[in-house]
Amino acid sequence: MTARRGGPLQGRLRVPGDKSISHRALIFGALAVGETRISGLLEGEDVIKTAKAMRALGSTVERIGAGIWSIHGVGVGGLAEPLGPLDFGNSGTGCRLVMGAVGGCPITATFDGDASLRKRPMRRVLDPLERIGARPLAAAEGARLPLTLAGARDPIPIVYEPPVASAQLKSAVLLAGLAAPGETIVVEAEATRDHTERMLVHFGASVRVEPHGTHGRRVTLTGQPELVPSAVVVPADPSSAAFPLVAALITPGSEIVLEGVMTNPLRTGLLTTLAEMGAAIDVLATRNDGGEEVADLRVRASALHGVDVPAERAPTMIDEYPILAVAAAFAEGVTRMRGLKELRVKESDRLAATADMLRVNGIEAEIDGDDLFVHGKGRAGGGGQVVTHMDHRIAMSALVMGLASEKPVAVDDASFIATSFPGFVELMRGLGAHLAG
Ligand code: S3P
Repeated sequence: MTARRGGPLQGRLRVPGDKSISHRALIFGALAVGETRISGLLEGEDVIKTAKAMRALGSTVERIGAGIWSIHGVGVGGLAEPLGPLDFGNSGTGCRLVMGAVGGCPITATFDGDASLRKRPMRRVLDPLERIGARPLAAAEGARLPLTLAGARDPIPIVYEPPVASAQLKSAVLLAGLAAPGETIVVEAEATRDHTERMLVHFGASVRVEPHGTHGRRVTLTGQPELVPSAVVVPADPSSAAFPLVAALITPGSEIVLEGVMTNPLRTGLLTTLAEMGAAIDVLATRNDGGEEVADLRVRASALHGVDVPAERAPTMIDEYPILAVAAAFAEGVTRMRGLKELRVKESDRLAATADMLRVNGIEAEIDGDDLFVHGKGRAGGGGQVVTHMDHRIAMSALVMGLASEKPVAVDDASFIATSFPGFVELMRGLGAHLAG
């Protein structure tokens, strides 16, 4: 697929539902007794894999209409042993969260995924799950997929301090801890997205969240609750909104409105950073939707300048660095993004893939340890063919870059965009973007 420069981007749009909340809504629905209705579910490939996994684990999962799903769950600790391997495709979130849910049940399940997911580290999840009482029976080298996990017969509540800032890891421990008697405690040095904690409360569990240190949190879950089925309204995904948002900022004359975007403060690091860079983004009609803050965002093309992005902001914008790097290329001056170690273990080595995406399009970018420096010149030459490494966010970032570059930008494979943002191409074309192929 190729993106090329055209006129201003204009219009109102709503991007699909939040991926993190969509996975969690399906998993919590499966652990509640009775019917959970979800509206606005992201119907991307990653989330559909999780829906199929929850079905294979014994719950009834039905699609009622566009984005509307019904789940009849089996209760905490009640997951059934699946007949075959669970395939999570490209999705680390689906895989790791369901590993947590299985880890607290007396069943055995095999987890598998595509070539990208098979490269990603699972040891980080196995460590706490083994303390809870689960056991890996088989795994590929380096504790990778395909991996067979025997869940705990008598799950043990633990106090766990994740060695990396990861909401997936925290969530896996809390999901396993649901089936354990007593308190499961996760102590985070850096607060990560809190959708699991919010959804636990929404489904009737007792969760206490306290501050810990300067940037951290201590989350205490009381185990063995009866989860009460609850309606879930999924807000628009800020990580998907980031693509049209940056496209409008860097395309002269543009003005767009993104409707109903989730503005949970643990997801808004990109908005903070872009505001510091001089972006004209108005946060309008702030409201609460299904337990999450949402707002409409009015975005106008802006002259941007380089900034320093501190490492402690990383958890609040961890998926947004590739598209921030595109904004940084169109800014004047250097943008320094610090503390990006976790980007190396995403759907691709995203630190390397982001730097390569810029370089093949004539932008100077350096990796220094875990930091990325982008030398912005207020413009990009383009003309490059970007290797996406099965990574949806690299594909979308490169295409956005092409919309404002002097020469078109091509990506080798746009198919992975469907994992998180079905309809991306059509929505962008609706704003006036030139995408072909
Ligand atoms: C997610 C957590 C993040 C993020 C991913 C979604 C989640 O991963 O990159 O896209 O829903 O919990 P890590 O927990 O590995 O940082």
